[in-house]
Parts: sequence; C-alpha cells; structure tokens
Amino acid sequence: TTSAQAQAAAFRFTPIDIATDHDIHVPEGYQWKVLVRWGDPLFSEAEGAYSPETGVPVGMSDKVFGENTDGMETFVDGDHTVLAINSEYVNPEINLPAASEGVAKSAEEVTLLKHMQGVTVMEIADNGNGYEVVVDSPYNRRIHHETEMVADGPAAGSDWFKTDADPTGLALRGTMNNCGSGKTLWGTYLTCEENFNGFFGATGAHEEREDYARYGIGGESPYAYEKFDARFDISQEPNEPYRHGWVTEIDPLDAASTPVKHTALGRFKHENAEMVQAADGRVVVYMGDDERGEFIYRFVSNGVYEEGGSTEGLLSDGTLFVAKFNDDMTGEWLPLTPETTGMPVEEILVFSRMAGSKVGATTMDRPEWVAAHPGRSEVYCALTNNSKRGGDAMPVNAANPRETNEYGQIVRWRPEGEDHGADTFTWDLYVMAGNPKLHDDAYRGSENITEGNMFNSPDGMAFSSDGLLWIQTDGDDSNEGEFEGQGNNQMLLGNPDTGEIARFLTAPKGAEVTGLTWSPDRKVAFVGIQHPGGSWPDGEGKPRSAVIAVWREDGALIG
Ligand code: FEO
Ligand code: CA
Ligand code: CA
Ligand code: CA
Repeated sequence: TTSAQAQAAAFRFTPIDIATDHDIHVPEGYQWKVLVRWGDPLFSEAEGAYSPETGVPVGMSDKVFGENTDGMETFVDGDHTVLAINSEYVNPEINLPAASEGVAKSAEEVTLLKHMQGVTVMEIADNGNGYEVVVDSPYNRRIHHETEMVADGPAAGSDWFKTDADPTGLALRGTMNNCGSGKTLWGTYLTCEENFNGFFGATGAHEEREDYARYGIGGESPYAYEKFDARFDISQEPNEPYRHGWVTEIDPLDAASTPVKHTALGRFKHENAEMVQAADGRVVVYMGDDERGEFIYRFVSNGVYEEGGSTEGLLSDGTLFVAKFNDDMTGEWLPLTPETTGMPVEEILVFSRMAGSKVGATTMDRPEWVAAHPGRSEVYCALTNNSKRGGDAMPVNAANPRETNEYGQIVRWRPEGEDHGADTFTWDLYVMAGNPKLHDDAYRGSENITEGNMFNSPDGMAFSSDGLLWIQTDGDDSNEGEFEGQGNNQMLLGNPDTGEIARFLTAPKGAEVTGLTWSPDRKVAFVGIQHPGGSWPDGEGKPRSAVIAVWREDGALIG
C-alpha cells in the first residue's frame, strides 16, 4: 500500500506482517542468527555442558549464558566489544531434572537456579556474520544470586539492611530479577531488580508488615529457595527483602570488580534506568516501577559529572522524585524528602512506593522501560497495560485514560527549558496501542495505529543514535479475541516526529522481545528473545531463551 511504501522510505525497510509461528521474522534484505542461548559456554570448560534432555549441570551453571535474557548494553574497551546482559528469571521446570517436577528438591538444585539468573558479561567479536562469543575472554563473567556485592547511599548499613547473616548491613549478596538495563555516562552497566519479591518465602510464621503487602512479599515462591537457604526465608531473615529491589552498578570491563547497589535511587520493582544529564551537569536517572498503579521516578545527583572526571557520590548523593502527570498535560517532579513525606531518608529509599503515595504521585499503567531521545530533551515511558485501571480504586486520568487497559500506551514528556534538571514538564501520549480491526472507540488506539502495525503491551524501548524509537512488546500473543490480528510479540520502529510506527521483527510464539543494543558501528542489532515456546531455536529439545543478531545484507546501518 501507499502508506507501507511511505514507511519503507522513512525507515529504509519494508514493514513485515504479523506471525503466529515458532520462528523469527525480519524484513527483506535483513539476516538474523542466534548469538548466544541459555546454556552456551562462556568458558571452554563448559563446552558441551548443555544437554537438550537435561539442560545444564549445577557444576557448570555459573560458566554458561543464563536463562531468560532481558536488558543489555554494549561497552567498548580498545579493540574489544563487551556485552552485559541480564537474565531476568528461570523456568524451574526447564532447568531442573524431570523428577523434580518444576520445584527444587535440594540445596544443589536451588544453587543451579541461583546461577542461571543475574547478569552475563561477555566479549563478542565481529566475524563478519553477526558476531560470536569470545569463549574464555578475560572479560567473561557471571554475576548471580550469590555474588558478593556492596551498597552505598543513605540506606546502606541502616537497620533495614541488617540481618542475622550480616549484622553490618553492608555485605550483600546477589542481584536478582534483573529486568531492564542502563548505561552510565562513565561507561558502566546498570542492572535493575524488578520482581525480587518472588524469590522470598516463609517456612514458618512471619511478621505481617505493611510494606510486605505493598511490595508483594510473603506469597508462595515458585523457586523454593527458602526451604534450603535461610536468607530467602522471611520467617528467619525478615530484612533480607530490603536488600533487593535496587539499581546495581557493574563495571563490565573489570571482571574482578564488586557490584554496587545504589540505595539513593530508591527501592521498587525497577524496570530500567535511563541516565541523562541536566543542563548544569548533574546526573539524572529516569526509572519506572512496573506494577499496576505504581509510579515513575527521577533521581537527580547533587554533584555534577564532567567527562573523565570523578564519579564519586554521583549515584549515592542526590534527591529522588516521583512524577505527577496533571490532566492539563503539564507535570511535576515531586521531591521525596523528610519534609515532604515525614519519613527518615533511609525509609524514603527502602519504602519508596509509600513515600510516593504520601506526596500524591500519579498512579500509572505499569511503567516499563524509559528511553530518552538522543537529540533533544524528550523522554518516553512504555505503560504496558493495566487490567485494573478504572473504578474508584484506580480511577482513569489523562495519562492513563482507558479503563481495563489491555493494550497499553507510551507517554512522553519534555522538561521545562529542555533541562532534565527542571522540576516541571509537559507531556503527551506518543501512541495508544489498540485494535482498529475490532474497535472504533478508545480501544482502537491512536491515529498512528493501523491494522498493519498494531500490537499490544509495549515494554522494552531504546532509541538508536539516529533518533528513531524501537519498541518491543511483551503482551498477549494468542492472536485471538481482543488481540486478534496482532500475532506474536514483536519489535517495531517508531518515528518520534511523524508518529509513524512500522513492524520490524516478530518473535517465536510464546516469547516476548526484550533487550536491545547494537554493535559499536550500529551495523548489527542484538535483540533479546525471552521465554520462547516450542523448541526454539534448536528445533528439538527444550526452548532456549537467546540473544539474536540482526543485520542488513548490504552492510548498511540498521533501521
Ligand atoms: Fe521485567 Fe516489567 O518487565
Ligand atoms: Ca519488561
Ligand atoms: Ca512486561
Ligand atoms: Ca519478562
């Protein structure tokens, strides 16, 4: 059609149709391949460790690529290209022996699960064919649920951080449910702890705490860690959950470095962390809290960053804010301080959700990734969906305008004076996802949604250096009912200026698309495929979450 041709001209590719199969599809003229899959070796001693019948043995479980890939970033060290990649969670039934029936039956099985998640750091090399992993590179490293780490900022070492195992409140272990990512201005990796609550359980009676309820702690854990490790048993270590739910910084170019949890950035179900700079040089980090009715946050440092200068205190000394989206399309960043909340600063950070409620933050439709435009002061956040929006408990508002919002939307804001340090902004909706095949009311979606590009549940987002917005989905891929005509999860490209959106990639059925980064020359895109169904990509045996490489056959830039 004419509009598809116009999109092809704008985006330099022909948009693709939906898919419902168990394969990857990319536009004509593009190639893809698997770069790395769950169980692939990072070290030669783990070569051949993965078996299609039994997965990875526990002894090799911290020497292979983890399961369920998510956020990732690219780093360059001289001639070396290094990726840091999150592994968000595990499917116990895929990792554990069949006899365990999906529930860990021993401390050893718990160790296997702990190792298959967290972060992988690995070197990759350009072989002219979508890159390959450099096995045994000195950069290669696994960081998981047992890795030693430290914390800084006001909550580190506070009473909330003290446990029987660590009376100092400073010797932490493990980063978990590593969802989205970020990259600092000084070239380190930020990994964001999202649904950490799911790893805690109780073997006996435990205190009912208000904050446990707000953060979802105290339910049944599908991982059964608490049965074999007191750290995850809130009837024995009630404070351990406060040591999770943070943004953690990793130096991907130093495999001996100790990860640091930055408590100044607040504790909630962190999606990702998008770092930019205020006009005066202060560091600004935008962050979403992915839960129905939770908030969007901003951290602003007290110190300023200059290229090559000291980074001391930049992520430990500053102010946390929450967003208020007014119905007149203005907005405000509300500071979370002892004065505004009546809470001591360490409690503001450990219980950020409660602090946000006290100042009247706007309840959002599950804030997922935040992405900042590389060429101007404009920031986008994917609001993935919210089945509970509407009614008295969570009334609609202008930024979250649809009851029973199953399709989601992307909100964007422009800070006052084009300064990310400003406390006010204006906002609009870049897109309301919807289904124009079924609806002609609010559920059809905004004007830039057509039967040819529709999708549901935007989640991952990243700008490429050309100022185009890549949108990844994590939605209902049944292709039925409300989602008829939308097919499998997908990755689309959006033009922020015209509003145009075109479908670039479709995932295998069952998978979400999450995590996107590029080779240093932007000729190869690395895309995460999480929780695929069937036997993707091997065609037999277990499904294996993977990072794929996508490139143009003519060697031109992606997009
Ligand atoms: Fe891990 Fe909200 O996605
Ligand atoms: Ca996500
Ligand atoms: Ca999601
Ligand atoms: Ca996910």
